[in-house]
Amino acid sequence: MNNSTSHPCVITVFGAGGDLTHRKIVPAIYNLFLEGTLPESFALLGVDRLDMSDQQFRDHLRDGVDQFSRRGPTQSDQWSAFAARLGYLAADFHDAAAFQRLAALLATRDKAFAAPTEHVFYLATPPTMIEPIVRQLCGAKLLADAAQTRFVVEKPFGRDLASATELNGILTALVAERQIYRIDHYMGKETVQNILAFRFANSIFEPIWNRRYIDHVQITVAETVGVEHRGGYYDHSGAVRDMLQSHLLRVMTLVAMEPPVSFKADEVRNKTVDVLRAIRPIAREEIDRLAVRGQYGAGKLDTEDVVAYRSEPDVDRNSTTETYAAVKLLVDNWRWQDVPFYLRTGKRLKRRESEIVAQFRPVPHRSFPDSAVPWWQPNRLTIGIQPDESIELTFQAKKPGSVMELRPVDMRFSYREAFNVPVPEAYETLLLDVMRGDATLFMRADQVEIAWAVVQPILDQWAQQPPTEFPNYASGLWGPAAADKLLADDGRSWHEPVTAPAAALERPE
Ligand code: BG6
Repeated sequence: MNNSTSHPCVITVFGAGGDLTHRKIVPAIYNLFLEGTLPESFALLGVDRLDMSDQQFRDHLRDGVDQFSRRGPTQSDQWSAFAARLGYLAADFHDAAAFQRLAALLATRDKAFAAPTEHVFYLATPPTMIEPIVRQLCGAKLLADAAQTRFVVEKPFGRDLASATELNGILTALVAERQIYRIDHYMGKETVQNILAFRFANSIFEPIWNRRYIDHVQITVAETVGVEHRGGYYDHSGAVRDMLQSHLLRVMTLVAMEPPVSFKADEVRNKTVDVLRAIRPIAREEIDRLAVRGQYGAGKLDTEDVVAYRSEPDVDRNSTTETYAAVKLLVDNWRWQDVPFYLRTGKRLKRRESEIVAQFRPVPHRSFPDSAVPWWQPNRLTIGIQPDESIELTFQAKKPGSVMELRPVDMRFSYREAFNVPVPEAYETLLLDVMRGDATLFMRADQVEIAWAVVQPILDQWAQQPPTEFPNYASGLWGPAAADKLLADDGRSWHEPVTAPAAALERPE
């Protein structure tokens, strides 16, 4: 949440030869460099098993920036200035001697910087490597200074409540909690952070942001991509572990939390934990009624034919892994009692669209005759997270003409139009926060565990009762029919996301 950092800083990336470093981490750091937000004294050291020279490592990273940076391909002079700060160490993560070499290398770099150096260790590795790497870092005394050293762990943090609790226990026995930065990249998205600004920097929304005015809330994270090249990971994960337990619950906590006293890390995190603790536990016998799973079959996305999940590379041909999940959650507190939160996420859906919809209650009494309101809709506030970053309020207005006829119209704020500046990538924001030691947007141990506790009954029940009807939605649709029924049973329906004003709701003339 901070804007710049001035302390010397060295980021050591484990898994430096991997996809995450190539696609996300280094393009983000390079953009920070171009913006001048990196400290003057900055270095990045890559660590991985492959044998590579510094120059080969730099070339590999440049290729990633050229392909994946939001700013497009690199320019030679700028890249050369950045590349001079990059180095590489080939090391086995289980080899204590390699960590001694790493410590010696980092000590030499520190001496070159005039002021005390902050050290960030980024574990861009599979989850199984977290414990061994942190143990080795501790063994080499690289995490001894709790004020100036910290490390970042990627999701998934554990694969269920028991494993996450165990991992937290191991890590917090080795280092201080404040040194652990559990990343969830959704928290770095501009529009996700804007939920806080929208709610707590304006006085007009908060008075109606409660059960008295809001009928229900929908949170949708829809993707058009399939599992891409990640079948090996995804087939042991699924939509609940991969998306619902992390990204969707994070977004929900920001929508539902109480106003924080300040934006200090623990103050905000305490408020989000309160939401998670207030979510009504789902009884196992209620799972079939309150949660829906799906797996995509073959289908068409736009004009492209795409294969079924079970035909994707590295996926079991009889896989029962869900690629879609929807759930109805209730929050037992004063603000939200009896207001359902419907969450849904899936791959290979009709459009890539993430949004939050707060559906308001209907007016208490309709003074207008039915003939004046052929297309009645209660007010709706839609926060577009991606790809269209926006806030839209839908309300009724009189249609011009000599007779009284009402139509829903939209009042719309678009990020792009209002600010006309490029929106930073989530990783840029989050990496800068880590360098500054600001943990507000990162998950604390208890946040992660409570989020697992919320979804654990679903995971248990689904594991015990394998689905018989998979695949149950064709690629290119909005998910399985049962997801529509989840809302229809409550007399509601999913809001179909619309991308641009031009695509505004088609209404009967
Ligand atoms: C990741 C999931 O955390 O988020 C992926 O592991 C998913 O499966 C991705 O595709 C979605 O992120 P974004 O930023 O593209 O919405």
